[in-house]
Amino acid sequence: MIKRIGILTSGGDAPGMNAAIRAVTRAAIHMGLEVYGIHDGYLGMYEGRIERLYRKSVSEKMGSGGTFLGTARLKDFHKLEIREVAKSNLEQYEIDAIIAIGGDGTYRGALALSQMGVPCVCMPGTIDNDIAGTDFTIGFDTALNTAIEAVDKLRDTSNSHRRCSIIEVMGRNCGDIAIWTAIAVGAEVCICKETGFNLPEVLENVTNAAKSKRHAIIILAENMVNINELAEEITKNTPFEARATVLGHIQRGGIPSARDRVLASEMGVKAVQALLNGDSHHCICHKGGKVLSTPIEEALGDDAEQVIEKYEIFKMLW
Ligand code: F6P
Repeated sequence: MIKRIGILTSGGDAPGMNAAIRAVTRAAIHMGLEVYGIHDGYLGMYEGRIERLYRKSVSEKMGSGGTFLGTARLKDFHKLEIREVAKSNLEQYEIDAIIAIGGDGTYRGALALSQMGVPCVCMPGTIDNDIAGTDFTIGFDTALNTAIEAVDKLRDTSNSHRRCSIIEVMGRNCGDIAIWTAIAVGAEVCICKETGFNLPEVLENVTNAAKSKRHAIIILAENMVNINELAEEITKNTPFEARATVLGHIQRGGIPSARDRVLASEMGVKAVQALLNGDSHHCICHKGGKVLSTPIEEALGDDAEQVIEKYEIFKMLW
């Protein structure tokens, strides 16, 4: 029987993680459980940095960005000997189950831990929206709004100078931030893994834009092409001079949007319910408007379809 749960955030932080910790803590206490916060993800589990959380511990956390528990990327967690130390630390605190908030690395860690007999439920906390099992991850909406606000500002200066702005957004290997931003700002070009990169087509689109407007916007997902080299190609081969902007980690910060707060709250409650229902290697998903619990293995597939569908819409709006 589950009496004490541990909660952690792991991998890249995402706005809404604090709202998720709050929801899990409050829901678990409401359901008669004790809650322990594990600092810096699996690293803190390995190092035994664990503290009791109370209702009050999560007061006024809803609207803050980042994660007050801290986060880390512990590559060595795939090693059995590291997980064994982590598991014995959980036993010391008599923690019966874990709720882990993060991206696919977090999910893999939880899956491995659950195979050692520790029930784990994951919640999708990453700006990348790259968890296949869920339509939305916690943090994606806020990051998207940050990217859109930045591009709107860049458009002002781009338009004043008759330039092409290339804006690189995050997403690791997933084009969700790129394509959603491209649609929302009415970009001329979107380049991401799912849509591929075709230089002649990019140059043609930018050249066409120059016929009727004073600027062009290109949204580029990270890990695709060198942004400065692309800017040089555009300056050389189109009527526009190009400027490159890498948005970087600014996309991970800031106060969470209403949507992320509500998503985190709904998922937090569902995660505690899932553990109490006996789900032992599950993750929480938002599918077709419903919050569900599903086995982790089912949520770690390919996520390209959503981006490709959005790209078709983007192309129709050129
Ligand atoms: O997973 C979230 C993310 O922000 C990715 O979009 C990005 O590729 C990566 O993390 C950057 O990680 P780090 O902060 O460790 O450099």
